[in-house]
Amino acid sequence: MANTAPRVASLLYEVEPGAKVDISGWVRTRRDSKHGFSFVELNDGSCMSNLQVVVNADVPGYEETIKEMTTGSSVRFTGDLKESPGAKQRVELHAESLELLGTADAESYPLQKKRHSFEFLREIAHLRPRTNTFGAIARVRNCVSRAIHDFFQERTFLYVQTPIITTSDCEGAGEMFTVTTLNPSTDGKPVDYTEDFFGKKASLTVSGQLEGEIYATAVGPVYTFGPTFRAENSNTTRHLSEFWMVEPEVPFCDLEGNMQLAEDFIKNIVKRCLDECAEDMKFFNDRIDKTVLETLNNILKHEFKRVSYTEAVELLVQSGKKWDYPVEWGTNLQAEHERWLTEEHFKQPIIVFDYPRSFKPFYMYCNEDGKTVRAMDVLVPGVGEIIGGSQREHRLDVLESRFEECGLDPEEYWWYLDLRRYGSVPHAGFGLGLERMILLLTGMQNIRDVIPFPRTPNHAEF
Ligand code: 4AD
Ligand code: MG
Repeated sequence: MANTAPRVASLLYEVEPGAKVDISGWVRTRRDSKHGFSFVELNDGSCMSNLQVVVNADVPGYEETIKEMTTGSSVRFTGDLKESPGAKQRVELHAESLELLGTADAESYPLQKKRHSFEFLREIAHLRPRTNTFGAIARVRNCVSRAIHDFFQERTFLYVQTPIITTSDCEGAGEMFTVTTLNPSTDGKPVDYTEDFFGKKASLTVSGQLEGEIYATAVGPVYTFGPTFRAENSNTTRHLSEFWMVEPEVPFCDLEGNMQLAEDFIKNIVKRCLDECAEDMKFFNDRIDKTVLETLNNILKHEFKRVSYTEAVELLVQSGKKWDYPVEWGTNLQAEHERWLTEEHFKQPIIVFDYPRSFKPFYMYCNEDGKTVRAMDVLVPGVGEIIGGSQREHRLDVLESRFEECGLDPEEYWWYLDLRRYGSVPHAGFGLGLERMILLLTGMQNIRDVIPFPRTPNHAEF
């Protein structure tokens, strides 16, 4: 069995009737007609649609095998691809041979035809990719990943692999998972990390940005694309403990250039998905969120509105809305504020920029006003923050005073300061959360359902 044969997607949409076919997959449903033949709906994951296989009773082995071709069983057919008399499909397969590869007990197989809740499917994350929804999500994630690489590769960015184990905290939010081989201390004494595997405290990365900056100031525009870990105890539909982030970093670039790159990037991914995953996207619009295609087409049509933080706060205060978290200049924007701005007020993606420096990380460029930094967040309807980024502080003296202001030890970032000592240039970058992008594209409501194996507080199954 060599799997070079065309898959269901190409049989349904490309291969001409008359072709000899050898196809394997899983049975979605089977109907037995009284007139001595059966219809098997075969899916192999290459697309949402099933291939209809017509199996006549005179196919050798029919009597013994067909009853075992139940939902979820794995099967192989050979035969002729023929034009289908039914209106539902262009072609169907007329089987000449059939083979049952693996049975699926009809009593115990959890994925029978009825619809299951996403909560239930999360508990069987090893079987959920066999459903229409999770198959479609897998294909969209794949399309987005390819689009991300293509977007940057076409613009001469280098793909840089930054470390997963790191000894520096990029975001300074204290949300890092420690990587250790030490036994847990039982005597209450503080852990001595000099005794640990790396001779110092090491963690899983929260961002590849700082290492990205090293390469951006050597080889030009770069991007990272990898897993990212945050030990924040947020049980929301927008947070994972392990997620994937894309982080471009561009030398000789300011915040305006960074905003434009972010806008072009998001639009490019949206367009690719609409073009290349049309069948899956239609499914999401029909079955998951009736507004998703409209939202995406709207994103393509309009310029992302640029709104300063100060302006955003004024709008939020003037809205007269009662917020769970009151807003005033100097407080961070919460999800409820971000969603109101992008969903109800502007009704399109917006880029909020120039945030107060008090709650932003050390690396952001300080504005002349002494109060704000050149930060930007891209907010989109249905999701809220999808991108966070900034122009970086490239002036050595300002950066050193920011370390002090943020209570960080500049010694620990000696190499980061070296980048400002030797050939420093203005530069900027951002991070896109892959799963938040998939939420936007699919209209799915919970981030746990757009990553194959979600990790959240108290959950790391599979
Ligand atoms: O805004 P964040 O924290 O920015 C950074 O990490 C910067 N170092 C990026 C950079 O400038 N190179 O995270 C960036 C994005 C967020 O906008 C969000 O989409 C996603 O990463 N993100 C998460 N996604 C899922 N679960 C979480 N816990 C996330 N935290 C951030
Ligand atoms: Mg952020």
